Amino acid sequence: MAVLVARLAMIEKPYHRIRETCNDGYSSTMTTMKPGTPILKRKRAYGPDVRLITRNGVMLVEKTYRARTLPVRLIGRLLVAWEAFIYSKLQGIAGIPRTVESPDPYTITTTYMGGHDLRKRTRIPDHAYFEDLDRLVKAVHERGVIHLDLRNRRNYGMDEHGKPYLVDFASSVYLPRKGVVWKTLKRIDCMGLYKLKAKINPALMSEEEKRGYLKGSLLSGLWLPGRILDFLRRLSGRP
Ligand SMILES: Nc1ncnc2c1ncn2[C@@H]1O[C@H](COP(=O)(O)OP(=O)(O)O)[C@@H](O)[C@H]1O
Ligand SMILES: [Mg+2]
Repeated sequence: MAVLVARLAMIEKPYHRIRETCNDGYSSTMTTMKPGTPILKRKRAYGPDVRLITRNGVMLVEKTYRARTLPVRLIGRLLVAWEAFIYSKLQGIAGIPRTVESPDPYTITTTYMGGHDLRKRTRIPDHAYFEDLDRLVKAVHERGVIHLDLRNRRNYGMDEHGKPYLVDFASSVYLPRKGVVWKTLKRIDCMGLYKLKAKINPALMSEEEKRGYLKGSLLSGLWLPGRILDFLRRLSGRP
């Protein structure tokens, strides 16, 4: 790991210079760094900046670690490369953003899917939404990708036509061989889907989904890193 970080730090140098110039250069061509650009996710010292940008009149989402400290930037670079790889495996599926060119290796840029995320209760998803969402998650699994963060409502979107979309594949895994591990991890995504339904439209839940939700809640309660993260979130006043 130490060797990997040291090697990345060496590669980092020329990009660091690009980053310095990008901060001025990009604002005129890409609106990336313009003040007042809509922020999609609140800033954190260890996480990326996620904001809406406009390039040639097209709305895009830029997720970037470029303004973070060196260690976070190096890890961010790996996360961004991994997320771009996962997106490359999902290209062509409706409900998955497309990746477009990014200005530096600390940034991933995707097409903006519109609408709102499901944390915001702008419009309560109905039966048709959940049917489409099931199909979408199945299509993702069929490509060998398991999302692994589907308990988080912010990672689900509803576009202007009421259709579902998924974002945030940084913590996903790619398992082209659909064996036991694939089947087991798929269940984690399913439990995430049950939690979503339980939170936003429990009336639509079947008995099987209710059982799955209870099992998922029990398992995630036993998951120590998750509990520590929840504790830290509550401590910092974040929902
Ligand atoms: N392509 C996209 N289209 C629409 N909204 C998006 C898109 N990508 C991200 N978002 C919004 O930005 C938020 C943060 O992005 P996300 O990739 O989940 O970052 P993080 O890894 O920090 O959670 C999401 O919850 C979602 O609301
Ligand atoms: Mg997210």
